[in-house]
Amino acid sequence: MELNKNLVLIGMMASGKSTIGRLLAKKLNFKFFDIDLEIENKTKTKISEIFKMKGEIFFRNIEEKITLKLLNKNRCVISLGGGGFLNEIIRKEAQKNAVTVWLNWNSKTLIERLRKNRKKRPIALNLDDNKIKDLITNRSIIYSKSKYKINCEGMAQLEIVKKIVEIYEGI
Ligand code: S3P
Repeated sequence: MELNKNLVLIGMMASGKSTIGRLLAKKLNFKFFDIDLEIENKTKTKISEIFKMKGEIFFRNIEEKITLKLLNKNRCVISLGGGGFLNEIIRKEAQKNAVTVWLNWNSKTLIERLRKNRKKRPIALNLDDNKIKDLITNRSIIYSKSKYKINCEGMAQLEIVKKIVEIYEGI
């Protein structure tokens, strides 16, 4: 039993990390941190604005700093941004001290969801569906390094939460 460990949710943009994370934290009575929201609160700037004004490297630096700080805590659910786990330093720290769970969906589902909500996601903004598919394929190689993978297709939100709780409590 490792019931103090943080739970870290990983996956593509629009995979439900924030929604599932919030529900999960409530269920486990853990604190919840959404990295994107933490970045926006800290900088008092929307993610899309940060990308526009300061660029991706600047964003990735803040993302790393904030994520590493939160990974030091205990009993938290942390939803990474879609690019967080690609950062080797973040990934190593998360793998060492947390239970990492990848919310995996079919590309088709993710592409459809992203179509509706591309504006606030600068990485997806200028990509056509084929390019997003490539991004999903490439990133999945890294996401698959997570300790656990949930194939979310066809599952309701609460089923996903239940499954993660079962994994966590069974460790
Ligand atoms: C990003 C995903 C976003 C946000 C930023 C970059 C990415 O988070 O961190 O726009 O590289 O995939 P969500 O996964 O919460 O959309």
